[in-house]
Amino acid sequence: MTIFENLENQEYFLRRYNKIVLQWSKNIQVRDAQNLLTSVILRFIQACGDEKELISKYFNFLEVAPLNVVNDALSEGQFKSKIWLRDQLKEHLGKRELGQTIVLGGWIGLLGPILLCENLFRIEKLFSIDRDPECLDLADLLNTLWLTNEWQFKAITGDASQFDFNDFRATTTQLINNTNISIDFTIDPVQTIINTSCEHFALESWLPKVPKGTLLILQSNNNESLKEHKFCHSSAVEFLKELDLSEVIYSGTMELDHYQRFLVIGLK
Ligand SMILES: C[S@@+](CC[C@H](N)C(=O)[O-])C[C@H]1O[C@@H](n2cnc3c(N)ncnc32)[C@H](O)[C@@H]1O
Repeated sequence: MTIFENLENQEYFLRRYNKIVLQWSKNIQVRDAQNLLTSVILRFIQACGDEKELISKYFNFLEVAPLNVVNDALSEGQFKSKIWLRDQLKEHLGKRELGQTIVLGGWIGLLGPILLCENLFRIEKLFSIDRDPECLDLADLLNTLWLTNEWQFKAITGDASQFDFNDFRATTTQLINNTNISIDFTIDPVQTIINTSCEHFALESWLPKVPKGTLLILQSNNNESLKEHKFCHSSAVEFLKELDLSEVIYSGTMELDHYQRFLVIGLK
């Protein structure tokens, strides 16, 4: 099994791999389950490394994530666009740090491992907010390594439009000893806001509540073929214009198979 060649405890991972294939093959052909699993593991290793504990936690996630989530949220396009974001941060951020960071529309929290695995950007906290309550446990599970590091990562259920980023407070739940415990979080000040889902909800629903000077890392796209994409942009220039930033650090376009994705890094 070539994907496990460099991993310690190959047999252990192979056993877990076969268990997931067996589970998925209730819904898809064994060969398709193997191909899908191999590709999502390879993408993860390429983006985040092959350290045993990290891969082991990723397997915990793959064992419970529904197949449609794996197919969609761990697709090649999802990894590509988030690695692009990380690469542009590496190149253009200079000495700036991300510090206390909020991700809006964070979905299953894939940005967590991609940004935190090397901790290149000095992220103190990464709170991933999504209005879909089903994302919470999956995002926490995918980020267990950082969740258990004094809440460096935490998923929160909520609508982006309901937060005040001048005085950020949120209550979230965590399953501890089979009981859902309620935990209050505050971030003061919010240093960075990331939103790779700008095509999903209106900029004016949250951006006016962001303090001036906050670092913004935002993606949108021109893929209007999906009904959930109600707030697409036709180009990076149009996206940038709507953002009206005080300082632009980077703006660019990534060509994907059927559409373009735009990335803007700058200060509110
Ligand atoms: C399909 S996903 C992410 C797609 C995005 N292109 C990416 O690569 O990250 C969009 C997410 O935005 C979330 N979402 C939509 N409207 C929201 C809102 N008002 N507040 C918070 N999350 C929202 C959805 O629940 C969903 O999980």
